Amino acid sequence: MSKHPKNPNLLTFKESREIIKSNLREMKRLEKKKREKVTPEYFTTKMKSADNILEIEDLETCFFTDNGVVRSVNKISFDVPKDTIIGLVGESGCGKSVTSLSIMQLVQAPQGQVVGGEIRFNSDDLGTDESGNKLCYDITKMPTADMCRIRGKDISMIFQEPMTSLNPVFTVGYQIEEVFYLHNPEATKEEARQKAIDMLTLVGIPMPETIIEYYPHQLSGGMRQRVMIAIALTGNPKLIIADEPTTALDVTIQSQILKLLKNVQKECGASVMLITHDLGVVAEMADYVVVMYAGKIVEKGTVYEIFDNPMHPYTIGIQKAKPSLASDADSELYSIPGNVPNPINIPDECLFKGRCSRRCGKCEGKYPKEIKITETHSVFCHLYDEERGEE
Ligand SMILES: Nc1ncnc2c1ncn2[C@@H]1O[C@H](COP(=O)(O)OP(=O)(O)O)[C@@H](O)[C@H]1O
Ligand code: SF4
Ligand SMILES: [Mg+2]
Repeated sequence: MSKHPKNPNLLTFKESREIIKSNLREMKRLEKKKREKVTPEYFTTKMKSADNILEIEDLETCFFTDNGVVRSVNKISFDVPKDTIIGLVGESGCGKSVTSLSIMQLVQAPQGQVVGGEIRFNSDDLGTDESGNKLCYDITKMPTADMCRIRGKDISMIFQEPMTSLNPVFTVGYQIEEVFYLHNPEATKEEARQKAIDMLTLVGIPMPETIIEYYPHQLSGGMRQRVMIAIALTGNPKLIIADEPTTALDVTIQSQILKLLKNVQKECGASVMLITHDLGVVAEMADYVVVMYAGKIVEKGTVYEIFDNPMHPYTIGIQKAKPSLASDADSELYSIPGNVPNPINIPDECLFKGRCSRRCGKCEGKYPKEIKITETHSVFCHLYDEERGEE
């Protein structure tokens, strides 16, 4: 018998070596698959509905770390209808950014890999098949060269911190023109300059002819985020992914940027996937809401369904945890007890059960199935199994 009992939270040298070996094997296999030459048919598929701009089905994204496999996005499915704002909410580390990076094919490889599922993007480039079904791209299978044609043009992204996303050594005008040239290589210098001025005007920047000569450090945080939005809109995208676009800004600027985002969404007819941990922002902006917890979707529905009739104990908990002016000044702010589970080697069961006050016998079993409450509202929780006559 060894002198010291084994700590279950620590890996032995042998276990660690086994994990590294199997990770290397898996990463090599996935990277090799990505480099294989494929025909367009391989990454072309059919949309479930032509009214959606994006359909995510059973998406699974992992990070192969030396401590084990982190399942950051664990078989999630949701749709982004055309011309709408969809809010993706959940606490820090629940997989919101990894979902958006998977859509953009920007997950940090080789450790980060999309290992399963489909991301169907409804592009105008492809028509319909013989049966009249709308054809689309499956981003999970697209080679990088083909992805570059739609990234930044058809799908663009606004990041949280504009100072780290903008290049500090180029003027803002140059950075807008660069995106314009990328998708319009034949354009003249005058056309590109005019486009930069038009884009800055669209996002409400005063004196755009002067500001295009400014470097990012010469602008305020709010103006920098406006420039980021201008860059994101330059390719006339059909889908804009905004990952916590206002978290780095102060409150007054936050509302201006959100208003701008809503206006440009209406004007350009694009869909927006708004990622945030702020329920207030979602309530104000979104048409549909997807609630994530530990890499899984726990509830999704229209903004009215999620706010007026939240069903999952986690959704109810985060709404209760929101500070309100009406609450008693002496009462303590509610917080959901416990912590998010360790994302390594997570089991196939409800991941909220360690923190849930409504946990019952059935919660010890497999991960709950999707329970459809209405056509648009679904929840993943054993509490509602009986309502469907299931045991
Ligand atoms: N490069 C990485 N390597 C390992 N794990 C990562 C990496 N990026 C993200 N993760 C893990 O993926 C999970 C989801 O992260 P993320 O999507 O960034 O969360 P958020 O919902 O706050 O945006 C977290 O548990 C995080 O630790
Ligand atoms: S499945 Fe059970 S533990 Fe999980 S949220 Fe529902 S009631 Fe709580
Ligand atoms: Mg994030």
